[in-house]
Amino acid sequence: MYNLLKGKKGIIFGALDENSIAWKTAERVHEEGGTFVLTNAPIAMRMGQIKELAEKTGSEIIPADATNLDDLQTLVEKSMEILGGKIDFVLHSIGMSVNVRKGRHYTDQNYDFTTKGWDVSAVSFHKVLQTLYKNDAMSEWGSIVALSYMAAQRSFPDYNDMADNKAYLESIARSFGYFYGKEKKVRVNTISQSPTPTTAGQGVKGFDGFIAYADMMSPLGNATASECADYTLTLFSDLTKKVTMQNLYHDGGFSNTGVSNEVMEKFIK
Ligand SMILES: NC(=O)c1ccc[n+]([C@@H]2O[C@H](COP(=O)([O-])OP(=O)(O)OC[C@H]3O[C@@H](n4cnc5c(N)ncnc54)[C@H](O)[C@@H]3O)[C@@H](O)[C@H]2O)c1
Repeated sequence: MYNLLKGKKGIIFGALDENSIAWKTAERVHEEGGTFVLTNAPIAMRMGQIKELAEKTGSEIIPADATNLDDLQTLVEKSMEILGGKIDFVLHSIGMSVNVRKGRHYTDQNYDFTTKGWDVSAVSFHKVLQTLYKNDAMSEWGSIVALSYMAAQRSFPDYNDMADNKAYLESIARSFGYFYGKEKKVRVNTISQSPTPTTAGQGVKGFDGFIAYADMMSPLGNATASECADYTLTLFSDLTKKVTMQNLYHDGGFSNTGVSNEVMEKFIK
């Protein structure tokens, strides 16, 4: 361990169970000396095991629906009280598509579902950023990270409307990152992570095939949730102070690989 986050305070959204990327990140932040408030949607509190994580990391939990501005306002105010000052890091690890959940094909969307999924998966990031910004809640050189997937750049048929949500999410990081950098010296980035076996990930149709294909296409293999946590820590640390408005691939090289020998072998007669 490196004591990389000693004295730093944060808010971590999206730890549902021990597979969650946010869960692994919370554990690693704790190991690196950071303190934080854990938050998730009230419904996830009942389903998930977040209390166990809170006990393990000595954290408090504040329920908040990330699409609800009142919830976010309370979350930010209470977090500053609990942590005793401004926030140094925030992880937005939230995603959900109602169309995916209800088995609606991309060419047959229910637009109420589309709007809901967009609000949860993408606009919530803007809401989090705006609430932090208006409350002047972030410390100078603070860092905010959201999680994305490469379907924002390339078509993956079964990723459905989450592809559009991720494109929007990444755009918010650039657009808000400009103002947050200029005005407050705060970094805003997205990490584009390999497919990862979590509750959200497994919602994608044919996920097992998807994960095996990505692994075969990545020179370093798929990045795990724990490895994603490690990468996130570097972005929360003072070692990456001038990295902002980026979408950063954390995918074992998948995004720059045209084809791998292993995949080619499957087609050579
Ligand atoms: N698993 C993958 O393959 C993969 C790949 C790339 C990116 N991601 C992204 O990583 C992030 C974390 O997902 P995960 O894979 O750890 O799955 P997960 O299911 O463990 O986490 C998703 C979280 O979103 C929370 N959430 C849903 N609606 C919410 C709301 N209204 N308010 C607050 N929280 C809400 C859920 O309660 C859950 O904790 C997501 O943005 C996801 O799209 C996942």
